Amino acid sequence: MSNQLFKTKPLHLLLKEADEGKSGLKKTLTATQLILLGVGAIIGAGLFVRTAAAAANNAGPSVTLGFVVAGLGCAFAGLCYAEFASMIPISGSAYTYSYATMGEFTAWVIGWDLVLEYALGAATVSIAWSEYLNKLLGYFNFQIPYEFCHSPMQVFRDSSGIVSRGIINLPALFIVIALSLLLIKGIRESSIFNSIVVITKVAIVVLFIVIGWSFIKPANHTPFIPPPGTFTDEQGVIHNFGGILGILGAAGVVFFAFIGFDAVSTAAQETKDPKRALPIGILGSLIVCTVLYILFAYVLTGVAGIEDFRHAGKEASVTYTIQTYMHGYGWLAKLVTVAVLAGFSSVILVMLYGQSRVFYTMSKDGLVPPVFSKIHPKFRTPYKSNILFLLFVGSFASFVPGDIVGDMTSIGTLFAFILVCAGIIILRKTHPEVKRQFKAPLVPLVPILGIITCGAMIYGLGWPNWTRLGIWMIIGFIFYFLYGIKKSKLRTPPDRL
Ligand code: ALA
Repeated sequence: MSNQLFKTKPLHLLLKEADEGKSGLKKTLTATQLILLGVGAIIGAGLFVRTAAAAANNAGPSVTLGFVVAGLGCAFAGLCYAEFASMIPISGSAYTYSYATMGEFTAWVIGWDLVLEYALGAATVSIAWSEYLNKLLGYFNFQIPYEFCHSPMQVFRDSSGIVSRGIINLPALFIVIALSLLLIKGIRESSIFNSIVVITKVAIVVLFIVIGWSFIKPANHTPFIPPPGTFTDEQGVIHNFGGILGILGAAGVVFFAFIGFDAVSTAAQETKDPKRALPIGILGSLIVCTVLYILFAYVLTGVAGIEDFRHAGKEASVTYTIQTYMHGYGWLAKLVTVAVLAGFSSVILVMLYGQSRVFYTMSKDGLVPPVFSKIHPKFRTPYKSNILFLLFVGSFASFVPGDIVGDMTSIGTLFAFILVCAGIIILRKTHPEVKRQFKAPLVPLVPILGIITCGAMIYGLGWPNWTRLGIWMIIGFIFYFLYGIKKSKLRTPPDRL
């Protein structure tokens, strides 16, 4: 049985499938286009929501250093992703890569784990979308009552001591339903829309940095690294705050802001001169984002203080900061709010799409039920899968706070990155002969550094998140041993494949 567990999907089979499904794809993407693709997929709720949360709960102004750690971890893992993508040129994901290299069980672990990245990532961004929608409605003197835009696990005590408790986050549920329906109809972002969103996102980040710089109060940056201790938030959750642990915790939280750069590696097959363009695309988009993120976090934590992010400015923190401290820039607050709503929508769409695609492949491999690869007769989309994930993502978006789903997304993705880094070391030994269009430099040093940095961030996220990851994986193991292992297509005779 253990041999079966580690049975790999033959590379020639994967490449055949790639040929069948992808024949005729034009190799048109250049390094610059890859950088744009990466930046488009990366900037989102991580920056506009999780930065303030990490400052409030973990690191104060030293969240800036958290971005450096998270960026480094992504750079190491990104190089490993690129090697995988260039030797297995199928537009899949870590799941596909690991099936070919580390066997079915590891592939299952990654595929199951990617639900945290994509489905819970979509839930996190939709909760963030809900916060900024409330700010937008505020411009029209309208507010959704607290009860209907928060989870039952959230409470709010106003200055007169009145306590409100959430019931359901309706706007978050609304955006998940709306975008899932678009996906079912087969609507995906056009590249023109993507370019507009990328330009707008980068423009507001740059504007905020440039204009906000003169509003920085040095007192807010002192001490830059708070002394080590703990902080208990309004929900009673205890966080490591300050010192090295605080920075690692913050890195784990803002790691969310980098998720999506792996999108660049999945475009390997459509890239001109991938050997040169892929590393430039991956590292280029990471460098652009890391620099913007560090400056953005520096300005945000300099203009508003930690107490703001713990209380009144906890939600839609960037709009709050501009409205409260950057007088005369009301237009920027409005622009940020609108741009953020559009930008978040595109991130949610990409994540919902990615989720259905991973489960589509797993279903074709027999590891999850066939319902996930059932295609709509007219729209030619995996509509049943989209509906099931609508229910799953919608439940988290409606009933769980953004902090919890956000950290679960981070820890799940970090775990997948560690497996990808390990995969590169294994693959160099087991498949040295396979042609790689791009080779990660300094193997095994780079993957080992990736494993250490991502592992440190997992450590920083603390035991409640380790427990959640553990429970999710145990559910996955049960499912695999009761279902996947019996239905796997890889166990059917080769002539039927
Ligand atoms: N990196 C994406 C975001 O921050 C997931 O929204």
